[in-house]
Amino acid sequence: MSAVKLLAEIADVGKDSGRGGYSRHVFDAAELELRQWFIEQAGLRGLAVRTDRNGNIWAWWGRPARGAVVTGSHLDSVPGGGAFDGPLGVASALAAVDILHARGFSPTKPFALVVFAEEEGGRFGVPCLGSRLLTGALDPDRARGLHDTAGITLAEAAAKAGRDPANFGADPESLALIGCFIELHVEQGRGLIDMDSPVATGSSIIAHGRYRFSFSGQGNHAGTTLIADRNDPMLPAAAVIAAARHAAAATSDARATVGRLVPVPGGTNVIASTVELWLDARVPGNGRTATLVEDIAEVARTAAAEEGCEVTVTQESYSDDVVFDEVLRNRMDQVLGGVPALPTGAGHDAGILAAHVPTGMLYVRNPTGISHAPAEYAEPIDVDFGAVSLAHVLEELAG
Ligand code: GLV
Ligand code: MN
Ligand code: MN
Repeated sequence: MSAVKLLAEIADVGKDSGRGGYSRHVFDAAELELRQWFIEQAGLRGLAVRTDRNGNIWAWWGRPARGAVVTGSHLDSVPGGGAFDGPLGVASALAAVDILHARGFSPTKPFALVVFAEEEGGRFGVPCLGSRLLTGALDPDRARGLHDTAGITLAEAAAKAGRDPANFGADPESLALIGCFIELHVEQGRGLIDMDSPVATGSSIIAHGRYRFSFSGQGNHAGTTLIADRNDPMLPAAAVIAAARHAAAATSDARATVGRLVPVPGGTNVIASTVELWLDARVPGNGRTATLVEDIAEVARTAAAEEGCEVTVTQESYSDDVVFDEVLRNRMDQVLGGVPALPTGAGHDAGILAAHVPTGMLYVRNPTGISHAPAEYAEPIDVDFGAVSLAHVLEELAG
């Protein structure tokens, strides 16, 4: 089946009528439905499915063995995200298997598809949970204790979905099976529009991290509390939002975003008692993200002190710069007859795996240039071209 048709099959799953787009978060009803869909699709293709100790799903073409050519992506989304970020890579992997079957190809190398759990960190905050746990980059105790906005821990959500959270942790056996990993992904910017190409290989990912700022003050009445008497944590939170923009604008190629802010209790006529905000900061060059965040944290401490509030800053995740395997990229480039190579500011499970195994990415043009929003798109002709390109690459690597 074509990748376009496969995506059409899941087009109604996890639609978010409030925010627009899709909200599919690890172990929620929509994501569980997508997992089931993938397992069924893998079964239809004669692939043997197994879910690993961290909730990543593997579908093997033939017997699992070391040195496997692996392709896949994720099925979860950001809140109100697009239809392509993640599912495009999964649908293209399934479509590539169909293309290879139709060509009468059977791999001489071990071959598997994979769906990683919670790539976006949309529910539990830490991105690339499944690949971080697999590679040992995330402590399983910390993972078990992560909680969503309703206070449900990852351990509870996993157990409810039939997974045993006691099993979370580094999985050297699964990791050792991967000979190389290729992730196809919708492009999340305008690179391919500008280059007028339907696909590109990935060259690098810039360093990025997430930082939680917790401000506490004194909850109080919006009408009776004189301005001079307030300890309003929204004030230092606002200072951080502005500081993030100014610091990023003053730093070459930096990005800093506050997209999530939670005042408690959140009443129109109530001075908040606490405000929690998440800063997403990305600066190429290892160590430069930390410097940017420290400048912003200094603003937070000064603004909090001026307002009689407290602040704590916690690093929730961090990934250094990633440069994808050049040998693999050149091989992909040759198979595809010469395509552009794109650096990106977006994080991927491929970026986590790149520290352990040769890893490559294949991007598919997004004519809106918009991602993490309902306007994210890929033309059907480009989606199918991407799947065919992936099939060519897999045939070369596994043949
Ligand atoms: C994932 O898409 C990220 O870059 O946050
Ligand atoms: Mn994403
Ligand atoms: Mn993604």
